[in-house]
Amino acid sequence: MRIAILCILACLTSPDYSDFVSSFTPSPLTQKTRADFPAINTGTVYLDSAASSQKPSFVIDAQSEFDRTTHSNVHRGAHKMSREATRRYEDARSSLAEFINAGSRRELVFTSGATNSLNLIAHSWGIQNLEPGSEVILSIMEHHSSIVPWQLIQQNFCPGIKIKFCPLNSDNSDLDYDELEKMMNANTKVVSIVHTSNTLGITTDTKRIASIKARKAAADSIYIVDGCQSLPHKKVDVKDLNCDFFVASAHKMVGPTGVGLLWGKEGLLDAMPPFMGGGEMIDIVTTTGSTFAELPGKFEAGTPMIGQAIGWGAALKYLESIGGMEEIEKCENNIGTYLYESLQAIDGVTLYGPTNTSKRAALAAFSVENIHVSDIATFLDLEGVAVRAGHHCTQPLHDMLGISHTARASCYFYTTKEDVDIFVEKLKETIDFFRSQESGGADATGDGEGEIDYFA
Ligand SMILES: Cc1ncc(COP(=O)(O)O)c(C=O)c1O
Ligand SMILES: *[C@@H]1O[C@H](CO)[C@@H](O)[C@H](O)[C@H]1NC(C)=O
Repeated sequence: MRIAILCILACLTSPDYSDFVSSFTPSPLTQKTRADFPAINTGTVYLDSAASSQKPSFVIDAQSEFDRTTHSNVHRGAHKMSREATRRYEDARSSLAEFINAGSRRELVFTSGATNSLNLIAHSWGIQNLEPGSEVILSIMEHHSSIVPWQLIQQNFCPGIKIKFCPLNSDNSDLDYDELEKMMNANTKVVSIVHTSNTLGITTDTKRIASIKARKAAADSIYIVDGCQSLPHKKVDVKDLNCDFFVASAHKMVGPTGVGLLWGKEGLLDAMPPFMGGGEMIDIVTTTGSTFAELPGKFEAGTPMIGQAIGWGAALKYLESIGGMEEIEKCENNIGTYLYESLQAIDGVTLYGPTNTSKRAALAAFSVENIHVSDIATFLDLEGVAVRAGHHCTQPLHDMLGISHTARASCYFYTTKEDVDIFVEKLKETIDFFRSQESGGADATGDGEGEIDYFA
């Protein structure tokens, strides 16, 4: 009788868990693409794709083919190799502009990464447009790269501005849109809110944010969307988002490190001063002053990340060739739900972000009762499982949640059920090990004999 009641209770508290996990069907996309990724077919269970994704041979080869045959500087050479390098670099820009549905190639600036893009906006648009009393609204779940640039602007250039943080809703699963509305006023000049949170996995409603901003904020305010965790995982149409600026990095979407994008509405970019000065970004330079290149060159000072941009172009081609972003999103929702529900079933694990798996990206930040997440990550690493432990560059979010760190497992379309199963099994073993320590099981004498010195 008691067992029956317990079963019923268990079923009531986690109604979907056993159903979904036991009936899980691997996505054909994962099966089709897994072999394309050399670095994860060496035995590592790689669950850190939200930090940086793996690259398929197609991208690695495209980059190295460029290096072996065509490497040279762009835009300046009057020779054949330079012309070819320029063509390929500009082709990558066109592919990317098309991929995000930019209005034109002029709106697509290559940067060294999303962080660079966000600093560019803060310095160029910010210093030109912010005045004492101006308000910058961020969300409490922003990545540090959306927070610190504005703090630097405040410290060094515009001390009279105010930086405000929009809180989350009551269960900490989503932005508090009502509060956002209350926070905005005629002094609101900047609204910068992450598209998909790299810690909570929630995707914000950009149309709703844009409409609140249109009603409440200054007429000349801007809305920046940090798309680092959305562009790799779903179809993004920058015009459809209703934002003014969009940023992302290649290395989270099977592309190289060292290259990212800044998309902005052409009128805004046109009116903005250059961020950095140097070669490529000028028109005429004299000893008394300079004029600047047309968009997007104005924002690309110095020799750009040529091979990386070309590698990104190849990455886009690869993502299209395996079925496109809609297929990738479906596939990730499948494995992401499997990851989440598998973790939910482990005693003592606390998961952060929405409980509704349809609203979650394929990542899970979690903590374990009475065990430090760094210990967990270190143990898992010894077992060949790569997860991340720390604050994931979202310290204000962690502070608000009242925790210093979380562990995070994150998937991409190449993540297999076996990856998740091994991770979950090793996590359970790790938890059991620490629990046995607590209860004196593994080392009842407390003399250190029998303990694993995992920092050795
Ligand atoms: C949500 C979010 N924003 C911004 C960044 C910064 O990207 P990058 O380090 O490529 O500049 C990251 C990367 O971790 C991120 O997840
Ligand atoms: C879960 O989220 C999806 C997508 O937002 C929504 O359609 C669905 O109604 C939600 N389910 C529940 C139980 O709230």
